[in-house]
Amino acid sequence: SLSFFLTFGVVVAETGINAWLRIVALNTSANSPVDTAGAELQKGISSIFGKNLTIASHSSSSASIVVGTVSEYASAYGQSPKTPQLENDGFWLNTTGPSVQILGQNERGALYGAFEYLSMLAQGNFSKVAYASNPAAPVRWVNQWDNLDGSIERGYGGKSIFFTNGLVVNTTDRVSQYARLLASIGINGVVVNNVNANSSLLSPTNVAGLGRLADAFRPYGVQVGIALDFASPTEGLVYGNLSTYDPLDAGVISWWQNVTGTLYRTVPDFGGYLVKADSEGQPGPLTDNRTLADGANLFANALKPHGGILMFRAFVYNDMINETDWKADRANAAVDFFSGLDGKFADNVIIQIKYGPIDFQVREPTSPLFAYLQNTSTAIELEVTQEYLGQQCHLVYLPPLWKTVLDFDLRKNHQPSLVRNIITGKRFNRPLGGSAAVVNVGLNDTWLGSHLSMSNLYAYGRLAWNWADDPQAILQDWTRLTFSPDPTVIQTITNLSMSSWPAYENYTGNLGIQTLTDILYTHFGPNPASQDGNGWGQWTRADGKTIGMDRTVSNGTGFSGQYPQEIMEMYENITTTPDNLVLWFHHVNYTHQLHSGETVIQHFYNAHYAGADTAQTFVTQWEGLQGKIDAERYNETLFRLTFQAGHSIVWRDAITGFYHNLSGVSDTQGRLKNH
Ligand code: GCU
Repeated sequence: SLSFFLTFGVVVAETGINAWLRIVALNTSANSPVDTAGAELQKGISSIFGKNLTIASHSSSSASIVVGTVSEYASAYGQSPKTPQLENDGFWLNTTGPSVQILGQNERGALYGAFEYLSMLAQGNFSKVAYASNPAAPVRWVNQWDNLDGSIERGYGGKSIFFTNGLVVNTTDRVSQYARLLASIGINGVVVNNVNANSSLLSPTNVAGLGRLADAFRPYGVQVGIALDFASPTEGLVYGNLSTYDPLDAGVISWWQNVTGTLYRTVPDFGGYLVKADSEGQPGPLTDNRTLADGANLFANALKPHGGILMFRAFVYNDMINETDWKADRANAAVDFFSGLDGKFADNVIIQIKYGPIDFQVREPTSPLFAYLQNTSTAIELEVTQEYLGQQCHLVYLPPLWKTVLDFDLRKNHQPSLVRNIITGKRFNRPLGGSAAVVNVGLNDTWLGSHLSMSNLYAYGRLAWNWADDPQAILQDWTRLTFSPDPTVIQTITNLSMSSWPAYENYTGNLGIQTLTDILYTHFGPNPASQDGNGWGQWTRADGKTIGMDRTVSNGTGFSGQYPQEIMEMYENITTTPDNLVLWFHHVNYTHQLHSGETVIQHFYNAHYAGADTAQTFVTQWEGLQGKIDAERYNETLFRLTFQAGHSIVWRDAITGFYHNLSGVSDTQGRLKNH
């Protein structure tokens, strides 16, 4: 914007930018990531400084911005650049010389370096730097839960950008924009369709359509993958109709080899498959008494000759369990199902594990499967789409939640075992690994359905590059780039965002009881009664006197025994279990006293009032930004925050009223009336 330009216009003279004559994009071919990097630098410098640079493809001695791969640089300039060792997708950025050097280990790395440099300039950072930056892990993917009819499962930003009426879209402009968005934050793969996949994506027309999508993603270095329906061979839609989908059946094996070969002929740089099997009614290898490893390896072996990977979801559980069984526990499912399979997976398989053992709840302990799989590559699965977390109608900045899991030390074999070092492959020396986030952008102009929720997508990319990065610092970069460098804007959006997840936890569900939302259908709004008596196993076991799941080995479901010893001991014992997970691991009286000194029930009351009080301040804080950001985004965000403030009171009153009635324990502060 104009004001952005004026802010920085003053300093242009000191930055050396006036001395630049051109951009050199080294030896590019059209639509390659280096070609894109050149075009992005040209566009960015023109919009930040109003200076139009031309793009050349060959070396020159005059001052310029040079972007390309390390090896192209060496052949163009006749000498290797003095860079530290770079890993796949990594880059070297050097602004200390007369020319700026942006050199990638590969083409993608060069593009990431260009975006990093532009991000610095756009934030008014003209410091002289020379450093290498390498990603934490090779797999930095997003998943879209788009259905072929154009709807999106758990999507809150409009219809699919990929599909309509059972087919891949014809026009891919919006897809290119998504590719650009993803590349700017270091994301290198996208699964374009729903985990509850439909085999008609494999039809010849749709495979040609996937070719169009890949053509749109390729210039940005984003590989396309798809989710598969395990039973596809028996569905008669493509390549004949088999009578079985048994992963060890020769006909099934060659059926998948055919499908995979066809895909790679259309999309030579295809990324791989994502498979949800034997979960929530989906078919899988267990139907034929094969193991999950047999099922995963079927696809991994078909992909192997082409260089693809198989993301196999650990979200495997039985959704018809019985609450009258005190020992039944959905949280046990992942480790139970994968038990005995560590080391049995092909080396291009990655087990994709949701951060907690249940399902993207507001607070969960770390999934113990991260510690269980030592000889198998793993990735963490996060959700940018706010399924249980307000569905983009509530501001909830998620990285602090994600960090509770990524920074958690599982103490495997009594050694430091941070989850972030497990998924990157460092802890157990695995060659593959990383992360996937369910994003679910749609056709809505805001992509996700609200302006502020985009900070979650931005932060996901930044963290997938470097899990040790600081959520607040990331948020502030995003705010400067998205809204304004004005300190009031930054301070306000920081205050709102950093207090949003704690507030949401307070006014929805606390002490590890999960969100208390309607878990049967909408996953939106309060419905504590729906938590019990269902087959899904998201239970609270609340009655008139007691609440919580006993997940101890000594008296409960045994879940705590799935952790390495030190962690198991911490959760097994109520005196060492942190308050924020006490009802996850223990079944207690409402009058049980927490470490904080409050009783469980009084904590419920107080937290719900405190959370709703915080949400009320979001509106007034935001109103302080009137005139400091454009009216459109100001008003749309004000509308959302006003809704959130009101809905937080609905939550507060529904939950406190429900437990007040159930327990009959009065509120020491007299806020609740007896009915
Ligand atoms: C959640 C979500 C489903 C989704 C499932 C999954 O249960 O509500 O819509 O299919 O997760 O991750 O597979």
